[in-house]
Amino acid sequence: MTMLLLLLLLAPVVVTAERCHPDDKAAILKIKDSFSNGRELLPMWTADRDCCNTFDCDETTNRVIDFSLTNSNLAGPIPEAIGDLTYLKTLRLHKMPFLIGQIPRSLTRLKHVTFFDISWTNVSGHVPSFLSELKSVMILDLSFNNLSGPIPPSLATLPNMIGLDLSRNQLTGSIPESFGHLASPALQGLGLSHNMLSGEIPTSIGNMQIYRIDVSRNNLSGDASMLFGSSKNTSEIDISRNNFAFDLSRVTFMVDTLVTLDISHNKIYGEIPSQILEAYMLQSLNVSYNRLCGTIPSPWKLKYRSEGFDNSSFLHNKCLCGPPLAQC
Ligand SMILES: *[C@@H]1O[C@H](CO)[C@@H](O)[C@H](O)[C@H]1NC(C)=O
Ligand SMILES: *[C@@H]1O[C@H](CO)[C@@H](O)[C@H](O)[C@H]1NC(C)=O
Ligand SMILES: *[C@@H]1O[C@H](CO)[C@@H](O)[C@H](O)[C@H]1NC(C)=O
Ligand SMILES: *[C@@H]1O[C@H](CO)[C@@H](O)[C@H](O)[C@H]1NC(C)=O
Ligand SMILES: *[C@@H]1O[C@H](CO)[C@@H](O)[C@H](O)[C@H]1NC(C)=O
Ligand SMILES: *[C@@H]1O[C@H](CO)[C@@H](O)[C@H](O)[C@H]1NC(C)=O
Repeated sequence: MTMLLLLLLLAPVVVTAERCHPDDKAAILKIKDSFSNGRELLPMWTADRDCCNTFDCDETTNRVIDFSLTNSNLAGPIPEAIGDLTYLKTLRLHKMPFLIGQIPRSLTRLKHVTFFDISWTNVSGHVPSFLSELKSVMILDLSFNNLSGPIPPSLATLPNMIGLDLSRNQLTGSIPESFGHLASPALQGLGLSHNMLSGEIPTSIGNMQIYRIDVSRNNLSGDASMLFGSSKNTSEIDISRNNFAFDLSRVTFMVDTLVTLDISHNKIYGEIPSQILEAYMLQSLNVSYNRLCGTIPSPWKLKYRSEGFDNSSFLHNKCLCGPPLAQC
């Protein structure tokens, strides 16, 4: 009888045995303490709570694999102790307006991280070149921060990267030549928009397979025709609001894959090649505010014609004519 009672008392203890690894628990308590308002905003992160109830832990190793904080008013620099969560696969610090300071080197200890996202914060300083030590990274998202300085060429050496988003910062300098020789075979997305990048796009980028590229709202100049070519699989190209100047007549389009194309607000000249009419996936097109001339090709096969296409797609060029603009 006593034995049975004892078993009944012990059973729940066995079932709820703490999974959290002591090293992870220590790191998480350190992280909490390093925010100036951590005690106030994270009352549930306590020493007697199993961290695997708060965070995703690996089923077999019981190590924390996902550390995500989003829509949080936690204040202070990025906690160095995040680098102690060495089994993380996902690091996400998103929409944290009071997160400040630079990206700490300790984060390079996250050798297993595949999704690295510090976005919509007030983190500043340079994009550190040591991020190239995160060899497992597939998605690197540093968009909507207050980062400045050049893009480190070393990011091109990340062997597994499929997405890089550095848009909406204050980055300067040019797109590194190394980006035309990425270690990763196929980049799904490259986002560099809304920065202060200048200079020319390295020609070698034309050899890369990139599905979505957005370099809009920078001060890039020269040729961007290497982004085009009928042998590519690109679906979205946005080079709008730069200083590009090249002859569009010489370009061929990726007619099987192209979905959106925005080249507006540049100094692009020549004619719109009629080969673009074969792009049956095309949903939106904007060539306005350039120096184009000649007859607008037709008829279009645009999928969502009413939204993606009207005269505003063609206005403010040198001498484009024909529907939907005036007759030639
Ligand atoms: C950065 O801080 C400013 C001022 O506190 C705030 O207005 C802005 O929303 C913050 N930025 C982000 C991306 O949270
Ligand atoms: C953002 O960076 C600029 C300089 O690059 C600085 O003047 C500004 O104060 C920073 N904003 C915040 C909220 O850190
Ligand atoms: C943009 O780049 C051009 C050179 O291509 C330069 O003359 C101009 O000052 C730059 N504009 C800004 C706003 O940086
Ligand atoms: C484009 O996509 C097709 C089908 O997914 C693939 O077979 C082809 O190798 C790709 N082309 C390039 C240049 O990667
Ligand atoms: C563009 O189209 C709108 C609506 O169809 C029309 O009101 C406008 O006059 C057109 N503008 C030009 C410059 O053709
Ligand atoms: C094309 O771009 C211009 C300039 O940014 C904009 O005013 C217009 O609405 C755009 N048209 C379409 C159809 O996207």
